[in-house]
Amino acid sequence: MGRVALVTGGTRGIGEAISIALKDAGYTVAAVYAGNDVAAKEFSDKTGIKTYKFNVSDFGQCQSGIAQIESDMGPVEILVNNAGITRDATLHKMTPEQWAEVIQTDLTSCFNMCRIVIEGMRARSFGRIINISSMNGELGGFGQANYSAAKAGMIGFSKAVAREDASKGVTVNVITPGFIATEMVLSIPEKVMTNIVNGIPVKRLGEPAEIGRGVVFLASDDAGYITGSTLDINGGMYMI
Ligand code: CAA
Repeated sequence: MGRVALVTGGTRGIGEAISIALKDAGYTVAAVYAGNDVAAKEFSDKTGIKTYKFNVSDFGQCQSGIAQIESDMGPVEILVNNAGITRDATLHKMTPEQWAEVIQTDLTSCFNMCRIVIEGMRARSFGRIINISSMNGELGGFGQANYSAAKAGMIGFSKAVAREDASKGVTVNVITPGFIATEMVLSIPEKVMTNIVNGIPVKRLGEPAEIGRGVVFLASDDAGYITGSTLDINGGMYMI
């Protein structure tokens, strides 16, 4: 049995590709999802990866969900915070609910999950936390003040925790995907989408598996000297 890797939002989109890439690399994977039972069952039937249903924006549910995973599989050594939603609207039309829902699901979830696993990782002197942010957290996405704030928040959060836990064998890194061919991106209005693809230097959307390969690298023993870093996988659309 390989190390236990937990992937939130792990049954669909980028998260599905991350779960599969980690499984193929030898990890024992737990894929967490929030609501879509049909997609989770299809994913599980296809991959043989075990799924767990709980809401990552709720601290209590994270505590019981992680306890269940650890009792089934052993301690979580790799945590990939990938779960995220969009509620796009320009600020002058954004509701307090659209703001709060995105902050809670995309950013507070990251605190919830990390807070629960961090003590065990520190005690065992090994851990890999990989937070899936977004290029739009660096760039500022049009119509995404809520999402951009949450995704930028993940980067600052990760650097702080990386600093705190570097001496304990725990690395904390961020991946910032650009436009990846998932349901979320493919639901962007067509006229906006054409402009987006024209603006990507490699002239195509990214593939979910391209993010999965980045995660496998950052999770590996070979990546032990990399912490607090942000890996842009965006086809050259944003270069720091
Ligand atoms: N850049 C510049 N202008 C833009 C724009 C953009 N990205 N998107 C829209 N506009 C313009 C429109 O062309 C329009 O201009 P005109 O009035 O001159 O035609 C104006 O802004 C208003 O646009 P809408 O008519 O669409 O206004 P709306 O209020 O109905 O919707 C919106 C606004 C919700 C932001 C909608 O345009 C939208 O959904 N845009 C896509 C947002 C987006 O890019 N989301 C990324 C999702 S993918 C993702 O988040 C993954 C990731 O991590 C990268």
